[in-house]
Amino acid sequence: MGEKWVLMKTAQTPTNIAVIKYWGKRDETLILPVNDSISVTLDPAHLCTTTTVAVSPAFQQDRMWLNGKEMSLSGGRYQNCLREIRKRAREVEDKERGIKIEKKDWEKLHLHIASYNNFPTAAGLASSAAGFACLVYRTNGFGFDAVFALAKLMNVSEDESQLSAISRQGSGSACRSLFGGFVKWIMGKEDDGSDSLAVQLVDEKHWEDLFIIIAVVSSRQKETSSTSGMRESVETSSLLQHRAKEVVPKRTIQMEEAIQNRDFASFAKLACADSNQFHAVCLDTLPPIFYMNDTSHRQVLIYICWFLLGDVGEKNMYKTKEVLIEMVKSWLWDIVVLGSIPVKSRDMNLWRTTSQKSVIEVAYTFDAGPNAVLIARDRKAAAQLIQRLLFYFPPKSDTDLDSYLLGDKTILKDAGLEGLKDVEALSPPPENGSAQKYPGDVSDFICTRPGKGPILLSNDKLALLEPETGLPK
Ligand code: DP6
Repeated sequence: MGEKWVLMKTAQTPTNIAVIKYWGKRDETLILPVNDSISVTLDPAHLCTTTTVAVSPAFQQDRMWLNGKEMSLSGGRYQNCLREIRKRAREVEDKERGIKIEKKDWEKLHLHIASYNNFPTAAGLASSAAGFACLVYRTNGFGFDAVFALAKLMNVSEDESQLSAISRQGSGSACRSLFGGFVKWIMGKEDDGSDSLAVQLVDEKHWEDLFIIIAVVSSRQKETSSTSGMRESVETSSLLQHRAKEVVPKRTIQMEEAIQNRDFASFAKLACADSNQFHAVCLDTLPPIFYMNDTSHRQVLIYICWFLLGDVGEKNMYKTKEVLIEMVKSWLWDIVVLGSIPVKSRDMNLWRTTSQKSVIEVAYTFDAGPNAVLIARDRKAAAQLIQRLLFYFPPKSDTDLDSYLLGDKTILKDAGLEGLKDVEALSPPPENGSAQKYPGDVSDFICTRPGKGPILLSNDKLALLEPETGLPK
């Protein structure tokens, strides 16, 4: 074996958002969850991680860079993943370059890993990677992106589900990103974690109508990391125990059915209920954990307003619109002034009747942070949603629409907003024209769709490491 060569692979890997949440471990080291979870993989064209892994006899030690900054690889999670992947490495040969790595060589050879997130560097994201970890990059764990790329470099024969069991040991939720479409992380029963892995429920083509809009909320306090947050919940929340035993097992079956049948109404109710319960568990934790903030609550409120007023169906239902408008107005007023939904406005009969008759257009879900992830039934609903979001949450005056709405911008055309210069001039949504606006509360919106799983990139120009030295470009 010559001493100069560097062998590399580059992968593009997506991120995912849970619609049935993973919250709580039964084994902290192996990262085994207390319940199954289900997620949707986001289109890597809009949000993804590019990772280059390299091996060379010239490397002195394993090293990793994240967004250009060197990270320590000494943590237990990194070491577990590296050990597991090395165990499975097989012979690799590059005949053209005269390189041959025997199975036994992998134990001695060192690795370089470089990852880069393509998510927008607008305010709030780059400056707060930790805060954004809940949404895109799991900074506290070894990325599954590295596991995927290393498996390709080392000619590992394991399939995606088996790889997910390795990457689970880096960071739990990331193991669901090994597939596109909708993915279930089966909690498993074995103590050694061998049956705790991700499986694809349907691919990204199955439910192509869906649009996903992420509202990246600007102001944030220092958040509790998912890892320590869920540890505290396991130790102190009895609601978590009830959720894991009684609620999630039934809910996952219902969610799988809703996804298979593309039944949006059921999907949305389950996703919202699960997000609510996850945050209820956080509140049930001692000391309580608050991930959602005022801006998050306002986003939920828009959803409720629209849901109640959107398409209320039967004309003979009360004096629907007028009653509801009053109700919503007073809600908004009280939310703004008092910061809560007042008891007097909670007419549950009205709520029930309305919610049974109306067409649900949007689902919401919140992870371990204040950012809202809104899933719209289809393009039309997404267009209506973005109109509302932009109206209530316009950018600061120095930000233009093009840098405010990122990702799939085709939605602007459907919303009749293409080329719009002044977001402030947007007309109010029909259900509530007088509501207060919150400029600057959202740093940007990202519009995306369900997307595909990880892929290897064959274009060497996209590699993040120099082919000669194996150091970051
Ligand atoms: C709220 O996967 O970040 O996003 O396994 O400790 O690394 P660790 O936690 P992590 O937890 C994410 C929790 C969540 C819900 C979810 O994605 O299912």
